[in-house]
Amino acid sequence: MKRLTIFIIVTLGMILLFNMILYSSNNVSPPVNVKSGDDFNFYIISDPHYIAENTHDNGEAFNNLLEFGDKMLQYSNVFIDAIKESVIVNKPDFIVFTGDLTINGLKENHIEFSKKLSEFVKLGTCVYVIPGNHDISNEEAVFYYEDKLLKGNNVDKNKFVEIYYDFGYNQSISRDEDSLSYLVMATEDVWLLMIDSTNDYPDHGGSLSSSTLQWIESCSELAKEKNSKMIAVMHHSLIDHSKIISDNYTIENNEEILKCFIKSDIEIVLTGHIHLQDIKEYNIDDHIIYDIATSSLSVYPHQFGTMHYSPYKGYNYHTVKLDMTQYAIDNGLNDEFLIEFDSNSEQFFKDKCCSSQRNCINNIEELNEREKEEVIKVVSEMNKLFFAGYRNEYLEYLKDFEGFKLLESISTCPVKNYALAILNDERANNNIISIPISD
Ligand SMILES: [Fe+2]
Repeated sequence: MKRLTIFIIVTLGMILLFNMILYSSNNVSPPVNVKSGDDFNFYIISDPHYIAENTHDNGEAFNNLLEFGDKMLQYSNVFIDAIKESVIVNKPDFIVFTGDLTINGLKENHIEFSKKLSEFVKLGTCVYVIPGNHDISNEEAVFYYEDKLLKGNNVDKNKFVEIYYDFGYNQSISRDEDSLSYLVMATEDVWLLMIDSTNDYPDHGGSLSSSTLQWIESCSELAKEKNSKMIAVMHHSLIDHSKIISDNYTIENNEEILKCFIKSDIEIVLTGHIHLQDIKEYNIDDHIIYDIATSSLSVYPHQFGTMHYSPYKGYNYHTVKLDMTQYAIDNGLNDEFLIEFDSNSEQFFKDKCCSSQRNCINNIEELNEREKEEVIKVVSEMNKLFFAGYRNEYLEYLKDFEGFKLLESISTCPVKNYALAILNDERANNNIISIPISD
């Protein structure tokens, strides 16, 4: 009996030692839940811009923040809670966050957000994050108190990794020395290349260094050795998502990166940052790269992406709009705004997001006040559909509106160019795409 006990203790000790050696090695990956040949599902959440409730008092300074943006920050925590309910029901294998995790990079916001992510992990879902331009060394990391902005602590790169260690960095099989990028074996068949595309604050733009590009190619070699594919995830756009807005949104050296991705057999890139729901593709010499930009969770229509992978078939992406009314009812929340969320959030978006366009339209001398209101009405409707991922024929019905005819009749102005570009885009519905497996 005594010999058996010693044998069990020694065996357990050896298993423990073996595991310690295994995970301390950079070449061996931790166990994955999804085996080769299995289907899997995951969520893609972009730009949640989380703000912790204990960092503001709903006072004047916080209301100013809401007034001059399109983000519904007062509910950023509730949106994450609503996603948690969806995770309980749908059990995605993992969730990726494409950056701009917080509104202003304040340490308290990161810490509270990471606590929310721990709740997902407790449900059995892996979480993988990368930073966005709002998250690191942000000099606008403040608390909002009465009418004041009180400076707080931001987080640097090391602190970011420390706070989010359990959400990707702990599972990385390789890390880039030049950025916070890392590689994870999320499933045996498909690995995630989590790319930190941020430039140093206050630059909102992004880029990848030549050393990071070399690292990506080395990751591709690792994946090829195991017959695995890689999906890339990064904050900035790889391909222009708008003919009008691309500066600081599309990554600076995208031509070089496209070449690197083609060489590395990367076909899908999941991005955020631009807050538009939009899918663009780059096609060269039989290689296609899809850049799927998921719209910001904190901005109308408050949706996230889901991806289903089937071996031998491919990927099916579609968006899911949060049902905040149902969430409020299920959780007994006595909040009038949430109970009528669809109409309230639509109005909030039209009021806030269209304010710069409203200013521009108000300056058109060819129109009288009533006509200006008609144009504003049609442009805010187009803008709403554009952000939600709809273009071309989905907006065709608006051509019969008086405001649209007036817009067509005026001499060239930025709002006219913006609105007409929405009617002439690559893809009509950017909320859904099927991508077959390539050889
Ligand atoms: Fe961003």
